[in-house]
Amino acid sequence: MDTNHHRKILLVTGGSRGIGKSIALSAAKRGIDVILTYNHNAEQGNAVASAINNNGGKAVALHLDSSKTASLDGFATQVSQLLKSEWGRENLDYLVNNAGISQRMLIKDTTEDIFDELVNVNLKGVFFLTQKLMPLINDGGQIINISSGLARFAFPGVAVYGALKAALESLTRYFAKEYAERKIRVNSVAPGAIDTEFGGGKGDEAHRSQVASMTALGRLGEAEDVGDFVASLLSEDSRFVNAQRIEVGGGIMI
Ligand SMILES: NC(=O)c1ccc[n+]([C@@H]2O[C@H](COP(=O)([O-])OP(=O)(O)OC[C@H]3O[C@@H](n4cnc5c(N)ncnc54)[C@H](OP(=O)(O)O)[C@@H]3O)[C@@H](O)[C@H]2O)c1
Repeated sequence: MDTNHHRKILLVTGGSRGIGKSIALSAAKRGIDVILTYNHNAEQGNAVASAINNNGGKAVALHLDSSKTASLDGFATQVSQLLKSEWGRENLDYLVNNAGISQRMLIKDTTEDIFDELVNVNLKGVFFLTQKLMPLINDGGQIINISSGLARFAFPGVAVYGALKAALESLTRYFAKEYAERKIRVNSVAPGAIDTEFGGGKGDEAHRSQVASMTALGRLGEAEDVGDFVASLLSEDSRFVNAQRIEVGGGIMI
């Protein structure tokens, strides 16, 4: 029997560091094979894949800059070829759109270039990457878009980022609507304040304890708090959860 055939395959973007890395590792622990992408950090991306392969899982790291929309057709072709060569399969099962960037900048200081860069990675790139990967995703598969608590509440300095994450949550429902005929579920997971290098990290001790004090569980999140949850959603146990926003933030700003 071809046991390979029964293993699910996940593609997670931005799997070289932070939350995406944790999603890749946690999914692999649950027996899911992984295609992860890196952008600038090839070495770290490959190290995550190696860690999975050395622990009895299966993973491959690919380069992706999701803001370069002209490259996305080529990327989808590369994924298709990889599925055939490594798995003898045509399709994958899960897509997690995790790659993202932020810029800490007040509205008055935000330039058009910065605005466009944020749009390209956090919204346009997600839209077109998902559009192009859709033919490769199995019917009954799942997509998870990584949003942010900042789509729900506002802090100074992250206006464009927060608004784009709110747009991503809306887009989540539209994808769920249009791909319902293929029984593909689409949800967004919104992390709270998570202790990664994102946007330059979570600052000094005073700032960290201030953020912790706004959180019911009284601490910042770790990448694993999000990674384990996202990986757990990639299961039949969540089979009737669709077009939802789920916050993983320990009860921040409630
Ligand atoms: N940390 C938080 O507090 C927090 C809170 C709410 C939501 N989030 C969201 O969670 C997601 C992951 O954040 P994180 O904290 O894990 O961030 P991170 O540690 O900065 O990691 C970002 C990841 O995205 C990749 N990436 C960046 N730009 C890319 C591009 N143009 N194309 C493809 N990949 C790109 C990076 O790849 P390379 O390193 O290889 O370049 C890296 O793997 C983001 O969508 C973020 O908005 C984070």
